[in-house]
Amino acid sequence: MAEYEYETHDYDVVVVGAGGAGLRATLGMAEQGLRTACVTKVFPTRSHTVAAQGGIAASLSNMGPDHWQWHMYDTVKGSDWLGDTDAMEYLAREAPKAVYELEHYGVPFSRTEEGKIYQRPFGGHTTEFGEGPAVQRTCAAADRTGHAILHTLYGQSLKQKAEFYVEYFAIDLIMSDDGACTGVVCWRLDDGTIHVFNAKMVVLATGGYGRAYFSATSAHTCTGDGGGMVARAGLPLQDMEFVQFHPTGIYGSGCLITEGARGEGGYLTNSEGERFMERYAPQYKDLAPRDYVSRSMTMEIREGRGVGEKGDHIHLNLSHLPKEALAERLPGISESARIFAGVDVTKDPIPVIPTVHYNMGGIPTNYWGEVLNPTADDPNRIVPGLMAVGEAGCASVHGANRLGSNSLIDLVVFGRAAAIRAGEVVDAESPVPETNAAQVDKALDRFDSLRHADGGTPTAQLRQEMQKTMQDDAAVFRTSKTLKDGLAKMDAIAGKLDDLKVTDRSLIWNSDLMETLELTNLMPNALATIASADARHESRGAHAHEDHPERDDKTWRVHTIARMDGTNVDLSYRPIIEAALTAPDEGGIDPKKIAPKERTF
Ligand code: FUM
Repeated sequence: MAEYEYETHDYDVVVVGAGGAGLRATLGMAEQGLRTACVTKVFPTRSHTVAAQGGIAASLSNMGPDHWQWHMYDTVKGSDWLGDTDAMEYLAREAPKAVYELEHYGVPFSRTEEGKIYQRPFGGHTTEFGEGPAVQRTCAAADRTGHAILHTLYGQSLKQKAEFYVEYFAIDLIMSDDGACTGVVCWRLDDGTIHVFNAKMVVLATGGYGRAYFSATSAHTCTGDGGGMVARAGLPLQDMEFVQFHPTGIYGSGCLITEGARGEGGYLTNSEGERFMERYAPQYKDLAPRDYVSRSMTMEIREGRGVGEKGDHIHLNLSHLPKEALAERLPGISESARIFAGVDVTKDPIPVIPTVHYNMGGIPTNYWGEVLNPTADDPNRIVPGLMAVGEAGCASVHGANRLGSNSLIDLVVFGRAAAIRAGEVVDAESPVPETNAAQVDKALDRFDSLRHADGGTPTAQLRQEMQKTMQDDAAVFRTSKTLKDGLAKMDAIAGKLDDLKVTDRSLIWNSDLMETLELTNLMPNALATIASADARHESRGAHAHEDHPERDDKTWRVHTIARMDGTNVDLSYRPIIEAALTAPDEGGIDPKKIAPKERTF
């Protein structure tokens, strides 16, 4: 058994991750007087939320008529009728309140002439339950909205005396014998010490797992650490087959060009200079949802109308927009286009391609962020002591496809909800659970065996094999063949985890070991993704299965539940939640308005 000394810390709440959701949860917990620690592998303001560009959706009606029910309708339709209705109502209803709170905390939003928060159009956001024109619902701080939010939430959390443990890597959860979470084991990266955090509530806010793919807009830190820890604890992942491709990653580098660029009037063209989105989505054109636009772009490329020497990408045109508008509303992407594509956006189009951007799936939760471990008898069974928020979680508010700018609002609405719920279920007077030493030893044994791994496969090599396989075989369009081949390849790749080679055995700033731990987190996320995709014989949202091109509500309007058993994935299904929170006669949405129907734009 590995011998490591460790320091213990006792808290009411430990939040793992300091992106938008983690910080909003941390702030809300600390505001209520709960002793709160936030443990994060990167400095809080370097979390991936810092890269969120275009904005945060809320029906403020600053630029024209809007209503939370229209936002809810768009979210339901965007999800291709796979989202949970209670969560989608909660998101749309609470969004304006959550944005005004951000404003009062100090987020420097862009402003209208009258001084109100500026809002821009984004894909799939409409008026009149999809019958009216596109709405300006996305509140923006130029094209650096995530940056603005993250800095504000970090400052506010410090003000509330939340305690930050920066550059601590979470190795594994500590579970009690009766299935509750009681803490987390961490490795401090800068001095090599081990830390055990005991807590009454652990909140996973660890972000997505975009780096399971070769080309992603996600930071290299997006390695699905929460999903990996949950899978190792014997808990499931949900709806992992739904991986969002953002239509406009820069060709080559994968850097994000915000959908706000199309919101401000940019448009896509093919090699014939045609604005092809008019054919695919006659009503909303370039402002159709992302799954729609990414598929349309891929079809143009496949049919020989891609641009560039290889005909393998598409053009995003902004040069017709006034220079002042580009400088005021889109300064960040103007700079990214110059640096990463060598393009002056005032003169030339940006080469773009659909790029992995977001995971709709994740750790199953209810809309309070409480983690679920469903059984056939109780599909909504709660895991005591454990929450998940943000991209790590699956509430499920985005179903099979997320609308742009519904991510930042998800982070703050559900980060806030988790804090509200923790205020109800965490008793600040009760004792903190004692350290479960056997569980800590188990986590440290795994850590130690990776630290001393002496096989023949370097971590970077295995990671690239995984990334290339996922990129090729679980792409925008999938077929039975690509998924079956991909699953077999992924099974073999995961088998090589036993043959890893780590060259640095030290404990201080050991990026080789950290990347290896991250790979062991990416792998269960990737396996669950491709196995869940292989099993879902329909097309819905981001899951476009060419051998099963229709949506099949009768069989498949269910959440996929994936449990890892070593490298095997066990699949089962859980009903979606159809009931809204509020009855129509109490101001809730009319269920007929959100009943499933054909999804066109
Ligand atoms: O295009 C963007 O600015 C990304 C926004 C989002 O993913 O919500």
